[in-house]
Amino acid sequence: MALKSLLLTSLATAGLVVADGLNVRAKAAGKKYFGTEISTTVMNDANANNIAKNSQDFGQYTCENEMKFDALEPSRGTFNYANADRIVAQAQANGMLMRCHNLVWHNQVPSWVTNGHFDNATLISIMKNHIANVVGHYKGKCYAWDVVNEALNEDGTYRTSGSVWGSTIGPAYIPIAFAAAAEADPDAKLYYNDYNCDRAGAKATGAQNLIKMVKQYGAPIHGFGMQGHLTTGQVGSASQYVSNMQAFAALGVEVAFTELDIATPSSNPNFQQQATDYATIVSACKQVDACVGITTWGFTDKYTWISNSDPLPWDSNLQKKPAYTAILNAWGSSPPPSTTTTTAATTTTPPSGGGGNGCTAPHWAQCGGIGYSGCTTCEAPYTCKYSNDWYSQCL
Ligand code: G3I
Repeated sequence: MALKSLLLTSLATAGLVVADGLNVRAKAAGKKYFGTEISTTVMNDANANNIAKNSQDFGQYTCENEMKFDALEPSRGTFNYANADRIVAQAQANGMLMRCHNLVWHNQVPSWVTNGHFDNATLISIMKNHIANVVGHYKGKCYAWDVVNEALNEDGTYRTSGSVWGSTIGPAYIPIAFAAAAEADPDAKLYYNDYNCDRAGAKATGAQNLIKMVKQYGAPIHGFGMQGHLTTGQVGSASQYVSNMQAFAALGVEVAFTELDIATPSSNPNFQQQATDYATIVSACKQVDACVGITTWGFTDKYTWISNSDPLPWDSNLQKKPAYTAILNAWGSSPPPSTTTTTAATTTTPPSGGGGNGCTAPHWAQCGGIGYSGCTTCEAPYTCKYSNDWYSQCL
């Protein structure tokens, strides 16, 4: 330990400090981000929030509950953005992308919608109005929107029971929602997001049919979010996730793990197996070009939606668990020492490695980094922001 601090002090004195972390390694492996779900509860805990703000570990945030229908439109036509805005502001201050979650879901819908007994046409107009307001409010700030969340039953059929949208409007609400989101922010990646679709099966097939259906209606859909709420010891092999992601990619959409957590019983945890299972998912994403990134559903066992399950890479005392190192190593080897220390997107100058061949990169695209040879100029109004030595992005 003493030797390690002496070494770090010497490196710092020489200006050679290693920029490293889960996000740094994900980007070095060619991904857009490694991210986390975050809440205002976490932001109010200074020690936890210090971890969340470290852009070497996290390059992307998802709001846990703050962007859901009941949080943003608690009564008809009244929108409350304060809590979600706090999270977006922290993401922007630290150079992080936002995955915005979510627009249309059967859960966390306010009672004025669920008990309103609206007819088909009125409910469609309520849904479209919500999407126009919310997506409009965050226009240009969301890398992606989870437009529709969990619309499927386990057998791959469309959910009607317990869903005000499915039972009143029918499956047509899905393409209508995607079209409305595209109208409000044409640059955001529009995702369908669901659980238990991470490997091939009836529900994954249902999700592929849903994507085809949205396209058949002429609405845009750009991504499929595999939530990835998994259980230690039941994760299986990377090849199962690789072939499933490739089946989605074949439909012309990108994919991402959007809510990864891997439960192990707190009473008898197996953190080594959990670490192996996290590495399996990272390895699978790394092998598929269409997999743009991984988001964990929180980062510390102190703040998780599943009690007594210790599912995350930091423990409830905010210490790193074996899963942290396993994720780091699964992305690839440690980057070499750098003479720059950067925890946020602070400069608009891309590092060496850019092609500079006069072409223009679109919003969100890579525009610089060691080994990169593509366009280094961003389309207006975006600028090329330095994230780390291996990755600059049009933001
Ligand atoms: O806000 C109320 C508060 O007013 C009330 O006093 C309190 C009493 O229980 O409840 C509070 O609401 C809770 C809400 O989280 C905000 O904390 C709900 O009861 C609780 O059910 C809700 O849980 C959220 C859950 O979605 C709802 O289904 C979890 O925090 C959230 O992590 C979880 O996230 C979902 C994703 O959005 C979609 N995929 C699955 C994932 C895990 O379930």
